[in-house]
Amino acid sequence: MKVLVIGSGGREHAIVDALSRSPQVEKIYCAPGNAGIARQAECVAIKDTEVGQLRDFAAREGIGLTVVGPEVALAAGVADAFKAAGLRIFGPTKAAARIEASKEFAKELMAKYDIPTAGFRAFTDYDEARAYVAARPLPAVLKYDGLAAGKGVVIARTMEEADAALRDMLCDDKFGEGKVVVEDYLEGPEFSLLCFVSGERVWPMVLSQDHKRAYDGDEGPNTGGMGAYSPLPFITAEDERYAVERIMRPVAAAMVAEGCPFEGVLYGGLMKTRDGIKVIEFNARFGDPETEVVLPRLKSDIVDIFCAVADGGETELEWHDFATLGIVLASKGYPGDYEKGHEIKGLDRVEGTVYHMGTKTDGDRLLTNGGRVLFVVGQGATLAEARAKALADVERIECDNLFHRTDIGHWALDD
Ligand code: AMP
Ligand code: GLY
Repeated sequence: MKVLVIGSGGREHAIVDALSRSPQVEKIYCAPGNAGIARQAECVAIKDTEVGQLRDFAAREGIGLTVVGPEVALAAGVADAFKAAGLRIFGPTKAAARIEASKEFAKELMAKYDIPTAGFRAFTDYDEARAYVAARPLPAVLKYDGLAAGKGVVIARTMEEADAALRDMLCDDKFGEGKVVVEDYLEGPEFSLLCFVSGERVWPMVLSQDHKRAYDGDEGPNTGGMGAYSPLPFITAEDERYAVERIMRPVAAAMVAEGCPFEGVLYGGLMKTRDGIKVIEFNARFGDPETEVVLPRLKSDIVDIFCAVADGGETELEWHDFATLGIVLASKGYPGDYEKGHEIKGLDRVEGTVYHMGTKTDGDRLLTNGGRVLFVVGQGATLAEARAKALADVERIECDNLFHRTDIGHWALDD
């Protein structure tokens, strides 16, 4: 089978890597891909939102399966276009992807189907939003309603901060026209439960945890994610069962009942609070960087799973027992302004796996080409061993414009 992966980050590199382990795969294409992906797949210069071009490419090349990475492609309707053309695609329709694209859709779905989540109200009017926030305890959780690459959430600890954020979101057009969802503030460890979903059927993956803040000690600005690991010792089997039975399966069923059945990866961003596990957010796709630590643990043939989801068939998931822990190497300045084009050396000396998040080649040289640049994954019998290996590999990589966190896994490993 010929397979096409849409996207250009570490997540897509991990998907390409998992596909390359399948004996059913004859050739992998990736659009647009990156310098690391190009070592395992043929990169095709089509942007992830060029839906018509992607569809025509898949039809022309006889692609048997297309796998979608990024949310922007889903929101652009790539799955709808492929389905309309009779092409097999792994990823939800635009209507189903609203569970990520619209915070208000997700919150109303959870309210209607009694899925545990933070209480909320949605506003379009600045004065009303401000009055509501002013009358409630701080911190205030303010979420801009729309795709914002993980940056549309503000946790305001003072009324001044809350006011500035509400102005940004509702008055200043900084994010464009929109709505704000104001949520109750929840506390507890966060974790990610990614599930393969096909209508009402749900196959949970192993748990993982992302680290969203830029610097050690969970300090600094929110990012797309600076590291991840799997498994999670602080989430019990009972917690996991609860999350699957009380959250993920009911949501999958709710999407069917609402007339927009979900097909693809449903990502539960969950929090273990004192009052039980609650939903922070849903995403309509594989997480990045969670995918890079979850898929290496998958023992089953991923093509069987993708096809079972897309075709409505049966499948089973088997997992390796080992632990994985991965560290992002990001450009200095990220998630703010950063430079591109710095040379990277030493990858040939790395012993574990490196997924490329934002790289390009210039002749023989490998260059940084994004905010998040590389993802270095250690694998071990324990998380401690996986972390030691990842940190050792990070030291082998030379580049004068990268930084990383040294405490990935601290929830599980440190006191
Ligand atoms: P989101 O994009 O919705 O995942 O939010 C980004 C981050 O903001 C989450 O990973 C949490 O750390 C934090 N956050 C979001 N909603 C809440 C909430 N209701 N209470 C506390 N923290 C939250
Ligand atoms: N790791 C967070 C996300 O993929 O949205």
